[in-house]
Amino acid sequence: MKNFLEILLKDQTTGNNILWANVEHGATEIQIADVYSIRPRHEKNREDQKLRTRERAEIFTPPEVCKLQNDLVCDERDWQKFIDAKFLEITCGEAPYLVSRYNAVTGEPIEIKNRIGLLDRKFHVIREYNQPVGQWCPLAIRAVQSCYGYEFQGNNLFLARRNVFETVVEYFMQEFSRKVPEDFLIAVAEIISWNFWQMDGLKNTIPYAKPPKNPNQLSLFEPAPPENIFCQIMDWATGKPFEFRKLVSKGGRR
Ligand SMILES: C[S@@+](CC[C@H](N)C(=O)[O-])C[C@H]1O[C@@H](n2cnc3c(N)ncnc32)[C@H](O)[C@@H]1O
Repeated sequence: MKNFLEILLKDQTTGNNILWANVEHGATEIQIADVYSIRPRHEKNREDQKLRTRERAEIFTPPEVCKLQNDLVCDERDWQKFIDAKFLEITCGEAPYLVSRYNAVTGEPIEIKNRIGLLDRKFHVIREYNQPVGQWCPLAIRAVQSCYGYEFQGNNLFLARRNVFETVVEYFMQEFSRKVPEDFLIAVAEIISWNFWQMDGLKNTIPYAKPPKNPNQLSLFEPAPPENIFCQIMDWATGKPFEFRKLVSKGGRR
């Protein structure tokens, strides 16, 4: 478990762990020992919930609303193309549009067959084609590679990552009723650590970072600005990371 947690806490832009980025802990990194105290929003007390709503507009979407919106974007009929169809949940919270293990508002668990997230739908499609494990795992990898999310607050980001990870485990168990191979899980965790990243969506940087100055305005007498604060994500087709802001400036196409 320690291996997976190490990967699920990693910030691929900085190489460090993701930050708490909340009122209580600011820019402190989340450590493995901290993850056991991270609770989903539905388990937090009213005061804490209110504070998070006030500070970071944290309100989660119930599954029936996610379902209606997801129905509108799932129009791909070719199943192989649907597995690779790219989806990004901006400001993803605990990622209820992508994975729906529980109702993000009430915490009520949702049975696998009733799940409505976009990644869930990819797994439902894979199941229809009844693949042996040697083909199921590569399809699962492609499905996870195509789902992205970003979030400012580190505890939400960690829960989003964990929800995606647990989702893959649950679909594997449903299909094959046996222990999930460790190398497959490591590969899944690695993809998740790239695809679900910590970012201030208003600046495309890691939380609290100051964007570097325009190189033309650099002064000889000031230290160079920190590098790599614009968030990096992975292009799985080329295996090369790139700055998310470049995707935005191209109108989301790549
Ligand atoms: C309204 S909630 C939506 C969460 C989830 N997508 C859902 O529908 O349940 C908004 C989320 O945006 C995050 N957030 C707030 N400001 C942000 C920013 N500048 N950049 C990225 N995420 C931000 C909050 O932490 C919160 O989890």
